[in-house]
Amino acid sequence: MRRHIPLALALLVVVACQRPAAERPVPSPIKMTGPLIAASMSMKAAWAFPADPLTDQTLDDSKLSQEIRRGFKLFTNTPAEAPRFAPGGMSCTNCHMNAGQRERSMPLVNVAGMFPEYNRRSGRLYSLGDRITDCFLRSENSTGTQLAADQLPNPSSPEVLAISAYLTWLARGASVGKNPTWRGQNTIASSALVPVEKLDRAKGEAIYMDRCATCHGPDGQGVQIGDKIAGPLWGDRSWNDGAGAARVYTLAGMIRYSMPYLDPGNITDEDAQHVAAFINSKSRPAFPFKERDYRVEKLPPDAVYYTRQISLSQ
Ligand code: HEC
Ligand code: HEC
Repeated sequence: MRRHIPLALALLVVVACQRPAAERPVPSPIKMTGPLIAASMSMKAAWAFPADPLTDQTLDDSKLSQEIRRGFKLFTNTPAEAPRFAPGGMSCTNCHMNAGQRERSMPLVNVAGMFPEYNRRSGRLYSLGDRITDCFLRSENSTGTQLAADQLPNPSSPEVLAISAYLTWLARGASVGKNPTWRGQNTIASSALVPVEKLDRAKGEAIYMDRCATCHGPDGQGVQIGDKIAGPLWGDRSWNDGAGAARVYTLAGMIRYSMPYLDPGNITDEDAQHVAAFINSKSRPAFPFKERDYRVEKLPPDAVYYTRQISLSQ
């Protein structure tokens, strides 16, 4: 294990030095799938944004254009741009990679026109603002701040509106209500799902140490790579236990197609699930409103932090 580290570090330095300047167009070696960075691209594409409002000449100085740019900055540097809502180390782009413009990494291009949409966790229709709010509250752990309940992110918060402006700009020209083909493509096929109780955390830990720890750290807290931090995968600075990524299969689907970042896609469905089970066996901030979730729809089998809460209280 240890002897791999210098090589990996050298690779990371190379990768970090290849960072394109913000005003340069996407360099040609970057493979695209339609408007998205191809899922096969390694970390050398991590700094590329096919649509970048900071350099797009069609945006002017109107209030809306300014908010689109602000939304992009919030999305790509959340803890710095929205410190009151993001107490941890996660940016939106950590999970929705390349600012929501990477294939099989929960891309958000042309997604804005799909809202309002039924949300199973809450059992009601969600606007785009509701959906962004939820990623703040849970993935960004806004509930881990000292904010009073009425100060927490909501669909009228300026940060949420600015991100809505960016995501709506990413859907400009798209048909309202037309589901983009690239949406929902980072899930493990149901035929390949291993029952949660059969997943092997020790095996997951071994895979983690072998294939993930060079960038995410043996302690899961992430290593600084250029201006990026491979996200904290557990502990106080990570997503909270009410987040989508706190579900084992959801997390496995994220890992399966985007990681390990120098060789994305080169992990099996099964290994992605073992490693996700390991990561989601760790402690993370508690989402204080879990009892309000899944009141209408059934609790999914991979929502392990909820199961634990229920079994503890029974
Ligand atoms: C820890 C990972 C993570 C982070 C950080 C994160 N998200 Fe998400 N996001 C998810 C997951 C997982 C889903 C999909 C959940 C599901 O439907 O299973 C999602 C879904 C979404 C959706 C809906 C996408 C669709 O196709 O319906 C939007 C919009 C969104 N996130 C915006 C954001 C914004 C804005 C931020 C930053 C404030 C953010 N996310 C941060 C994990 C994350
Ligand atoms: C070469 C470095 C590298 C390796 C190896 C790597 N990652 Fe990552 N990972 C990153 C970076 C960097 C990000 C943030 C993505 C971004 O901001 O563009 C990331 C993001 C993630 C995320 C999204 C949430 C977060 O915390 O940022 C998960 C989950 C994840 N990695 C899991 C894994 C797993 C599991 C493995 C091993 C199978 C792995 N990674 C291997 C660099 C790496």
